[in-house]
Amino acid sequence: MSNHLIIKKRLKKFKKKINVSGDKSISIRWVLFSSLAKGVSKAKNLLMSEDVLAALNAIRKLGIKSKLNKNECKIYGKGIYGYKYKSNITIDAKNSGTLGRLILGLLINSPHKIKLIGDKSLSKRDFKRISDPLSKFGAKFKLKNAKKLPLTISGSSNLNPINYFENRGSAQCKSSVIFAGMRAEGETIINAKKSRNHTELLCKYLNLPIKIKSKKKVDEIRIKKIKKNIKSLNYNIPSDMSSSAFFIVLTTLIKNSVLTIKNVNINNSRIGIIHILKKMGVKIKFKNKRDYKGEKIANIIIESPNVIKAINCPIKYNSGAIDEFLVIFLVAAKAKGVSYFKGLSELNQKESPRLKWGSKILSKMGVKNIVTGDSIKIYGNPNLNLEKKIIIKNYLKDHRVFMTSVIAALSFGGIWKIEDKDSIKTSFPNFLNIIEEFKK
Ligand code: S3P
Repeated sequence: MSNHLIIKKRLKKFKKKINVSGDKSISIRWVLFSSLAKGVSKAKNLLMSEDVLAALNAIRKLGIKSKLNKNECKIYGKGIYGYKYKSNITIDAKNSGTLGRLILGLLINSPHKIKLIGDKSLSKRDFKRISDPLSKFGAKFKLKNAKKLPLTISGSSNLNPINYFENRGSAQCKSSVIFAGMRAEGETIINAKKSRNHTELLCKYLNLPIKIKSKKKVDEIRIKKIKKNIKSLNYNIPSDMSSSAFFIVLTTLIKNSVLTIKNVNINNSRIGIIHILKKMGVKIKFKNKRDYKGEKIANIIIESPNVIKAINCPIKYNSGAIDEFLVIFLVAAKAKGVSYFKGLSELNQKESPRLKWGSKILSKMGVKNIVTGDSIKIYGNPNLNLEKKIIIKNYLKDHRVFMTSVIAALSFGGIWKIEDKDSIKTSFPNFLNIIEEFKK
């Protein structure tokens, strides 16, 4: 079967209501926390994507069973020290930086050597950023070229708590150190640049010994060794803001359109795109806001604007929009004026070097843009209308490059051939089915 997608037609205006799949960050965390709990944890609306399946496989390798059917996933946790496995196992994190980095925090006391591998994209990413702090607890690491996967971790039964400054705004590094801190005698102190906080919220919900002080630029997190059992975790996973982002942008770019997306996680640390698009003139409302186990959920209503305003994007929105910049750049391409995004070095640390790919997609579309170091200037054109042929390939199967290209094709026209359709399986297998809904 061919693994590319051809798009030759733009979408017409629409008025729709959709549901998108479960949040990826929360789904993976639910799997990992449930693997530490004592008893059976159940999740509804768990994201059924390759990243999450890789997490279920990873805990299975550690001796934790799960059962998956269409509506529900169950995990049979055996307690925080309940992992049981033989020596020399290999865990495959596939495409998932979140799984690869978070799980290392849980393996910090492993009595056996464990090998961690990933796919081609993950094997290009930086794992030193997490082996460095975890080594300070007392675990030992061997990494390919001192930085990358495959790596091996040898845990220690005598772990020291650490004092860690997380200065990239990486929720993966922060979360991994929180997991490690749960196993080290004493108190681990983390000062972390602001980033998504699902791990902390789950710790709080589960009554784990965590204290969080929110300061202006960082969060100070104190975590102590866990001495009591973690209760099982039943969770109804809300929809993913990062997956919703593609449809939020589609609505923004197609005049006279209105969209409602139901039950989306609107955690403050995830709504950078909403702040940015509102500043660019898009009408976005949250309806039926509610709290759920520490998270916030709402229905989102988006109306396309008549004019999109250019933006000089404040750096404070970067971390809350870190997975959304590729599609945000498309909005800038149609804005009236020149938009400027800066402080984006972390974008090149993702599944593909995304600052580079964002620029490349724009250039293929004929949109002038200039990348300087970690910033990009985008020269918008409110009448952008493509007629040319565009091919997107060799992008390390980065799911978000694929989906961004689909949104560009449907919004700006032209004839697009986008390779590696399978890439969506990592985060949003249902993406193209939802796109079909917009054609009806
Ligand atoms: C994630 C954190 C972010 C994000 C990734 C998911 C998480 O990565 O880009 O898609 O679930 O913790 P970093 O921690 O590397 O910024």
